[in-house]
Amino acid sequence: MENKAKGFTYVKTPFNYISYYKDGKWDEGVLREEDTLTISATSTSLHYGQQAFEGLKAYRRKDGNINLFRVLDNAKRFQDSCERLMMPKVALDVFVEAVKKTVLANHEFVPPYGTNATLYVRPFIIGVGNNLGLRPAKEYIFSVIVSPVESYFDGPLKPVDMITSDIDRAAPHGTGHVKVGGNYAASLYPQVLAREKGFADTIFLDPRTHTKIEEVGAANFFAITNQKAYITPKSPSILNSITNRTLRYIARHMLILDVEETDIFIDKLDHIAEAGACGTAALVTPIATITHNDHVHQFKCHKEMGPITKQLYDTIVGIQVGDIPDPSNWITILKP
Ligand code: PLP
Ligand code: COI
Repeated sequence: MENKAKGFTYVKTPFNYISYYKDGKWDEGVLREEDTLTISATSTSLHYGQQAFEGLKAYRRKDGNINLFRVLDNAKRFQDSCERLMMPKVALDVFVEAVKKTVLANHEFVPPYGTNATLYVRPFIIGVGNNLGLRPAKEYIFSVIVSPVESYFDGPLKPVDMITSDIDRAAPHGTGHVKVGGNYAASLYPQVLAREKGFADTIFLDPRTHTKIEEVGAANFFAITNQKAYITPKSPSILNSITNRTLRYIARHMLILDVEETDIFIDKLDHIAEAGACGTAALVTPIATITHNDHVHQFKCHKEMGPITKQLYDTIVGIQVGDIPDPSNWITILKP
């Protein structure tokens, strides 16, 4: 078995799943080979951004089987996104089955154990059909595509540099808490500027006061304080990251650290020893510096991943690939 991943890019896989919603109900859903879609040019997803997506990974175990990680939590968050954007919910069991079927059909593309590469699973829903006025579509497509991937940032172990943005990705009572394309479209401009300047990604600040760290363009933000507490921003406009929830569990129950969701002020970072970005794609990526208004803040652990971040990283990866016992019913084992 070889690793077919090429960085974090789409490598065509043999099968994807597709299901149509019409006349008030979802059809059976099938696996198919073609990975293009033909939709009406007046689809709400094209004009009004009526769509949502998820991201999770399938991991090769040492015994050759495959682990899905917290797929039910992705299914639940997908329902939240659908509800916010007035799209029909996909039943939790239908979502989970669609993911299982798609991963199993493409099992040869799940990279080998021990390579750090995984199969990225991207379920998504789009409003389709003929529309012109601004209203929810009457027809939808739910699909699951997969691709082998490597790490999203340069790392995953190497600390990266980030820069704050004075442009927001989400409004205070907007859609920041759900996984919808509009948030990402809004983050592209500052992200490209950040990358042009050599930064790995943007740090978004709270949209109301621009004084507190919210999250990273493609991940949540967390930090380890000098007192060895795990802290992460508390805000209604950030994505409720499943990786962050997992790290909080590991920190609290396995590493026996204090865990706090709290305000993290951008001009008061001296109490932080280790900082990082966490997410399905980003995994656990240490942050070396944050540039804000031309001031560069260098975290104490900036040369390499800090010791607590390393423990968190080793534990989450160990659970995901099945080397560490699953502490909370997070793993679904698939046998190809
Ligand atoms: N925040 C944003 C903006 C993201 O795109 C992601 C990635 O999904 C995350 C956070 C992390 O969420 P999760 O850990 O559920 O992948
Ligand atoms: C993920 O981590 O699953 C994401 O959706 C982030 C994306 C920008 C690649």
